[in-house]
Amino acid sequence: MGISLSTKNKKESYGGNYMIKVNEEQIDRIQVLHHILKTCCDNTNFSAPISQDLARGIRVLDVGSGPGTWIFDMSSDFPRSTFTGIEIQSFMLPTIHPSNTHFIHNDILQGIPFPPNSFDYIHMRNMTLCFTENQYEQIIRELIDLLKPNGYLELCEQDISCYNMGPVTRKIADEMGKLLIQRSMNPFVASRLHVFMKKFGLQTVQRGMVMLPISELDGKIGSLHGQTVFSGLLGVKDMLAKQMKLTGPEASQLVNDYRKELQSIRMYSKYTRVYGQKI
Ligand SMILES: C[S@@+](CC[C@H](N)C(=O)[O-])C[C@H]1O[C@@H](n2cnc3c(N)ncnc32)[C@H](O)[C@@H]1O
Repeated sequence: MGISLSTKNKKESYGGNYMIKVNEEQIDRIQVLHHILKTCCDNTNFSAPISQDLARGIRVLDVGSGPGTWIFDMSSDFPRSTFTGIEIQSFMLPTIHPSNTHFIHNDILQGIPFPPNSFDYIHMRNMTLCFTENQYEQIIRELIDLLKPNGYLELCEQDISCYNMGPVTRKIADEMGKLLIQRSMNPFVASRLHVFMKKFGLQTVQRGMVMLPISELDGKIGSLHGQTVFSGLLGVKDMLAKQMKLTGPEASQLVNDYRKELQSIRMYSKYTRVYGQKI
């Protein structure tokens, strides 16, 4: 396949409701996280039973495609399929991309620029910090309309809190949870996805969980994932400091204490992958 280069320039901005200001560091975080997730999911980019369809050639949509990392990976594995990414941040859209990929600058909350029954498979991942719970539910309904009969919708989200949290990590997770709830977002929307899918008529809804290490004590993957989680914290640091009424030095201390816990406590974050079929 052709070259996959993502657009990186000096811009940074908030898009839609997304709580993290997107800049180069955050783009790197999204790209590295893709490879960590794939590695921890038995080297797979999806769970739905669509490998043969993808190999034959189908139409795929990825919502909130970011720098296009998932699409680039998938489009090279399945050159006969076509992949469309929708992304609200124009500067995230790749300018050079393989011929079986397309990227559209669009706010999914303002509607989706495709007619019903357009796609065989729709994928959306890591959008917990982008939508209120009601918006998430509404988007699932709209995405199901976009699916062709027998098509699959697949979603993947991470819980805001972790397993085996140290005291600083717990404090941060609690405060993040409060921030989300104030914005009508659900820190545990991952646990609702299968409910929404069933509510809107998807069949054979399947759910799987995977625990990802975030501590340096868990080898290369733990260390790399810990770095991405740490970058994520830097992306919300100012918002969090305001919420917790911390001074600048206190906020820096919190971040340093968090880093120490990543180095010394074996903590794990939970991802949920869910898919269902439109019959
Ligand atoms: C955490 S990133 C996830 C990127 C990608 N899905 C992945 O998992 O690698 C969330 C992405 O969704 C985009 N986004 C947020 N709100 C959006 C909206 N309303 N419409 C389209 N894209 C949106 C953000 O700009 C960001 O690129």
